[in-house]
Amino acid sequence: MGDLAEDETTFYSNAEDYWREVAPTVDGMLGGYGSISNVDINGSKAFLKKFLGEADGKTGKGCALDCGAGIGRITKRLLLPLFDTVDMVDVTREFLDEAKKYLGADGKRVDNYFCQGLQDFVPGTGRYDVIWIQWVIGHLTDEHLVEFLRRCRDALRPNGLVVIKDNVSYEGVVPDDVDSSVCRDLGIVHRLVGQAGLRVVHEEQQLDFPKEIYQVHTLALR
Ligand SMILES: C[S@@+](CC[C@H](N)C(=O)[O-])C[C@H]1O[C@@H](n2cnc3c(N)ncnc32)[C@H](O)[C@@H]1O
Repeated sequence: MGDLAEDETTFYSNAEDYWREVAPTVDGMLGGYGSISNVDINGSKAFLKKFLGEADGKTGKGCALDCGAGIGRITKRLLLPLFDTVDMVDVTREFLDEAKKYLGADGKRVDNYFCQGLQDFVPGTGRYDVIWIQWVIGHLTDEHLVEFLRRCRDALRPNGLVVIKDNVSYEGVVPDDVDSSVCRDLGIVHRLVGQAGLRVVHEEQQLDFPKEIYQVHTLALR
């Protein structure tokens, strides 16, 4: 024990084992909270629409990347309606296979289904207007999260935006041994974002979620 490299390998492989057993459904993506999906998507849409547009300085609507996309819950209802094309990346092959059915006809505007862990994934330089990262940062170590966010910064088009939407703990790092993830407090997330050379340009708490779950915050970064 105490071998960091070994701990890290186990952290990732346990998460992969966990997600491989989860049903490829909206409820599966949301840990049994499928009922909050509408509120979540509507909140995200309102958040994103503040940035998108044709005017100078606005974020374009060409191509978005959905990170930890799962079956494409967000791609289907948030990103495909707003962007010309979408790429998806997720470590679980079964979810990406299901996405091809779940997305229906609009799925033809998904250019790439990348099956890879975000800790290894290199998004194309200058390719994306928006990189959406929801409910997955807890599956990356601090170091890998910072490195991934740096690669995301390089993958943005002019006026592009990285968005993190995730659970935040009240204080410190709270491990979850069931799905092999961690939940960080907002201060820690801000620090890691800063280390990646990104700046928080807007931040909101998602309202109207059940009281018993973590607070969820949405951060726009560039
Ligand atoms: C809680 S689900 C969220 C799915 C989607 N973002 C949503 O909100 O509907 C977490 C997703 O992250 C994926 N995942 C877990 N670890 C990952 C990693 N290291 N790299 C990429 N995806 C990962 C899982 O396969 C799963 O699809």
